[in-house]
Amino acid sequence: MGQPKILILDGDSHHAESLKAILGFIDLQSEQISDPATWDWARYENQDWTAVCIGRVDPPALRDSSLARLHQQAPRLPILWMDSAPPSLIDHPLWPLQQPVRHEQLVETLRQVELYRQSARLKERPRNVELFRSLVGNSRAIRNVRKLISQVAGSDANVLILGESGTGKEVVARNIHYYSSRRNGPFIAVNCGAIPGELLESELFGHEKGAFTGAVSNREGRFEAAQGGTLFLDEIGDMSLPMQVKLLRVLQERVFERVGSNRSIPADVRIVAATHRVLEDQIAKGQFREDLYYRLNVFPIETPPLRDRVEDLPLLLEEIIARLEHERGTSVRLTPAAVIALCQWRWPGNVRELANLIERLAILHPFGTVDLADLPENYRPLGEDRNGMASDVPAVHPALAHLAGSDGAPLPRLPREGMDLKQYLAEAEINLIRQALAASDGVVSQAAKLLQLGRTTLVEKLRKYGLVRADLPIDP
Ligand SMILES: Nc1ncnc2c1ncn2[C@@H]1O[C@H](COP(=O)(O)OP(=O)(O)OP(=O)(O)O)[C@@H](O)[C@H]1O
Ligand SMILES: [Mg+2]
Repeated sequence: MGQPKILILDGDSHHAESLKAILGFIDLQSEQISDPATWDWARYENQDWTAVCIGRVDPPALRDSSLARLHQQAPRLPILWMDSAPPSLIDHPLWPLQQPVRHEQLVETLRQVELYRQSARLKERPRNVELFRSLVGNSRAIRNVRKLISQVAGSDANVLILGESGTGKEVVARNIHYYSSRRNGPFIAVNCGAIPGELLESELFGHEKGAFTGAVSNREGRFEAAQGGTLFLDEIGDMSLPMQVKLLRVLQERVFERVGSNRSIPADVRIVAATHRVLEDQIAKGQFREDLYYRLNVFPIETPPLRDRVEDLPLLLEEIIARLEHERGTSVRLTPAAVIALCQWRWPGNVRELANLIERLAILHPFGTVDLADLPENYRPLGEDRNGMASDVPAVHPALAHLAGSDGAPLPRLPREGMDLKQYLAEAEINLIRQALAASDGVVSQAAKLLQLGRTTLVEKLRKYGLVRADLPIDP
């Protein structure tokens, strides 16, 4: 990513000059094309523009064809729209900018553009499929989920995954795909709740050029993209009723058409749907079609909330910390007291909430050890004061008993890449010897007592580790 650079296209050279001046004032480079008649996007397309500002361009036909071309070449390049006529594109990131451009408005718009660019970059990064495969947990509830996955994966039955937010519905969907005969085909996820109703049809089924204003080219939908694979319809409970009718038809007839086309395309797609809503309630309220519900609910799988399977928490922590180490190059550890406290929390956001908390702790204590008192206040059980002293001993799930060592001290953890055990033990020894010496004001025989060693043994160790000069006598 180089310096931010803005392309200005405006037939009104007075406007263009003043915009260039404001951009220069806030230290942004810009290039100006003042004769739009010679504008050819192809000449500019391979440069790393931050945004394009478009003002008056005559004739309008030239403006529209150039915009269409820009859209094809750079569908995510933000456009700041300064013309009074509405743009001919609708599915392109656009920000209106009023003429004459004012400094504050421009700064605010560019801030939004930058945020948009950041999130677009994040979306482009492929998600790590490998990590989504691991369905961590050994509780009875998660073992049952695993069993259901293995039973249904081999068939082509529709699956409906139900569960609270953050319980791993997408993890389950990816597992079903991975263990099915379609595993070498695509896995396509669509968040039906995030896409506005009127765009969802084109998103799912695609459209033909000219099907509606802004449909400047033919576009393949998600059903086509998922051919031979699995289509994951996430948040299906948020789909509008008219879309539900269209989806039901595809599930019944196994064909669909692009918007604006009569040609039927066979759908060779396995459907896995998910929702955090209770669909029976949605049906009662008239917000979800019963016939679609029965089509989808051929094989329901419920993902259990985390509070009902706290015995999985240590395993999940391990998995989440391993991800932090791989993806962020950071890490963090928790003392058993902290882990036990987390087992008392009700986890309304489930595993996602747990992952967010650990990420936050790793930022606050990079490579550190988090104790009870370091947890955010609401994660500490009632009755814990700020020093983390328990006034009431919380009940520990039997599966977690191994965590609470006899003295409650954190058990050291073996790093993934292994470790030099000898050096580790030597360092631990030196550290404890130093503490014992400090606690006994340097009196060796007392320090030896604290360490339950003979005095000569401790003296040997002091010499071995160079904690005293070998030629000096050690006293008393
Ligand atoms: N059993 C599990 N093992 C490992 N990771 C899990 C498990 N369950 C959830 N996760 C992790 O928790 C996060 C949330 O999972 P996911 O996105 O599948 O939840 P969801 O049920 O789809 O949530 P939402 O309803 O909010 O979309 C992800 O980072 C996922 O990797
Ligand atoms: Mg989800």
